[in-house]
Amino acid sequence: MPIPKAELHLHIEGTLEPELAFALAERNGVTLPYASVDELRAAQAFDDLQSFLDLYYACMAVLRTERDFEDLADAYLRRAAAQGVRHAEIFFDPQAHLSRGVGMDAVVDGLWRALSRSEETHGVSTRLIMCFLRDESAGSAMETLELARPYLDRITGIGLDSAEVGHPPAKFREVYEAAAALGLRRVAHAGEEGPAAYVTEALDVLGVERVDHGLRCMEDPELVERLVRERIPLTLCPLSNVRLRAVDVLEEHPLPAMLEAGLVCTVNSDDPAYFGGYAGDNFDAVRDRLGLGEDRLRELARNSFLASFLEDDEERRARYLAEVEAYEFPA
Ligand code: HPA
Ligand code: ZN
Repeated sequence: MPIPKAELHLHIEGTLEPELAFALAERNGVTLPYASVDELRAAQAFDDLQSFLDLYYACMAVLRTERDFEDLADAYLRRAAAQGVRHAEIFFDPQAHLSRGVGMDAVVDGLWRALSRSEETHGVSTRLIMCFLRDESAGSAMETLELARPYLDRITGIGLDSAEVGHPPAKFREVYEAAAALGLRRVAHAGEEGPAAYVTEALDVLGVERVDHGLRCMEDPELVERLVRERIPLTLCPLSNVRLRAVDVLEEHPLPAMLEAGLVCTVNSDDPAYFGGYAGDNFDAVRDRLGLGEDRLRELARNSFLASFLEDDEERRARYLAEVEAYEFPA
């Protein structure tokens, strides 16, 4: 059994495996711009974030109904459970569906059907985090927050994703303020392709409690010192960083240096259907190719539960943390 862990950086739309994409395309009478599963997989050779996003948004065309979102989330939770995920805080991108005429109700109700029975079915507790597309306008983000109001009892927090460079966090100051006033937790992607200054801005202007990626913080020693001092967790995604060329090869990933610096790092999968691995695969990769030993792997697992939004269920967090400490690595 893999070490118990929380997944904190996971785009549910990024769990759409080619096989499911074709099955949903057929069910919904949608045509994908690829002839086969193999052809779609072959298109997953990315140069950067934007080349991935182009394919990611194209494949979403197959997601149309409540049942599609339910099936998508259920398939993810099954895979995650098999890789030791005990708790998942799941991103979704409503604007990418609203713009195609798919309603917020189909998205949230569908996801919720899978999430609400996930503990029973898969042994995985869940939270939902609604992301805004940063290459859309701030006004569109605010409209999306308004549309989500009837569903806020099922949404724990907000995030910020899509094309980073040229769309600094401060663009979304008002919507983050409005979300905070509604009691929503706040995270944002920053420092994936964008500079370390975007990480600082996400902290100072958006008041984020966790930084998604945050990789490029390493270019600013003062920022690193602050992240360590304030114990701001980073949700790193090593296989994603290789596939989107944020790092050349996994062996050069700064994760070991980040842990050495005292940063609260977590390891996550981002868009596992596109980047070649789920949460456990990312753990295996950093063990095998970055030489992280048992103490570091246990630290990463411990951090994932410490960084998770389980403040409303500290008993559960304590249980998960005890599972991490009791875990015995296979010989
Ligand atoms: N970065 C930004 N936006 C995204 C990502 C990512 O890694 N995955 C899905 N949307
Ligand atoms: Zn991401």
